[in-house]
Amino acid sequence: MSTAIKSTLDPSKKSMAAERFEEQLFERIVGQDQAVEKLARLYQIYLAGLYPPQRPIGNFLFLGPTGSGKTRTVEAACEILFGTANAVLKIDCAEYAHSHEISRLIGSPPGYLGHRETTPYLSQSNLERYRTPELDLTFVLFDEIEKASDTLWSLLLGILDKGRLTLGDNTEVDMTKTIIIMTGNIGAQGIEKLLDGGIGFAGSKIDVADDKFGQQVNATVIEAARRKFSPEFMNRIDSTVVFKNLTECHIRKILEIELTALQRRIMQSSGETKFSFEISNNAKEFLLHEGVDLKYGARHLKRAIERFLVYPMSNLISTGQIHYGDHLCIDFLDKDKGLEFLKEAPKLKVIGEALPL
Ligand SMILES: Nc1ncnc2c1ncn2[C@@H]1O[C@H](COP(=O)(O)OP(=O)(O)O)[C@@H](O)[C@H]1O
Ligand SMILES: [Mg+2]
Repeated sequence: MSTAIKSTLDPSKKSMAAERFEEQLFERIVGQDQAVEKLARLYQIYLAGLYPPQRPIGNFLFLGPTGSGKTRTVEAACEILFGTANAVLKIDCAEYAHSHEISRLIGSPPGYLGHRETTPYLSQSNLERYRTPELDLTFVLFDEIEKASDTLWSLLLGILDKGRLTLGDNTEVDMTKTIIIMTGNIGAQGIEKLLDGGIGFAGSKIDVADDKFGQQVNATVIEAARRKFSPEFMNRIDSTVVFKNLTECHIRKILEIELTALQRRIMQSSGETKFSFEISNNAKEFLLHEGVDLKYGARHLKRAIERFLVYPMSNLISTGQIHYGDHLCIDFLDKDKGLEFLKEAPKLKVIGEALPL
């Protein structure tokens, strides 16, 4: 070591931008700390420019139970960074289960019927659509990769390896400035067995928030992934995150997030009728009851909100029963009738003296 005077540095200190990103992701994603922290770390590496050349900025394999936030995490990251969840290029692998469907992704070779009409989804221009000089990257999501065909697999391996993709017409797409996220609903059966008390928890009630249970889930899922995916693939993965089973407490928080998002949606809607709403605790319990099955995580919660709140609200708007500036109170009636919608009487603005009763 040199004898020059040295000052101690703090390599754990994050930049404001990375910290802000992490905070905002924590506000949106519940109970998946590892995923949030790892994404924030990768973003910091991107900001500092220390990502590897000639391959994607980074890649993640998100595994674990259905409805635990794997897809949502990527969408939320894009909402924060690009202002819209649409910024992610999302490939639902199940839609490309057959090799001939791959042409929608990469286009067809010259001379093929429809060659000119098919704009490949993974074209350079699509990839760069939301980029800015400050955010010169794209999130690419390969969703539910266990459903991918062999052709899609080899395409994915090439992208992970070299950050390049050859389209049907032989042009090359540069995929180095990407963060590749792959999700897999792998090991679901193993998790179900654990939840049913099949392994190691015989007879006892499972506490999914328990550390030991979490470790068992991790081990089960990673083992299932190793069995399912080839070593060539697993060796190319930078980091694997096993998402946790959501607890009731997590799902309650997600409901609050979704309700706030709905209020925002009403205020930012293209329609003229903007109004506020509040919802009683009993009504929330009803939505939770209708929208939650712990085996499906929070997957049905959104659907319950659409069915029991958004659709009735749309009727109220379209039939002129609520107007701009109204305040709606939503309560629970009973199991058969479901929710009740009440409109608060507009407050009289009293200027000067009180009105005589
Ligand atoms: N951890 C979570 N934090 C916030 N919302 C979540 C979380 N998990 C699930 N959700 C909600 O449930 C929906 C389905 O989750 P999703 O991310 O599609 O599940 P999957 O893990 O199967 O990809 C999301 O759109 C979101 O509304
Ligand atoms: Mg998903």
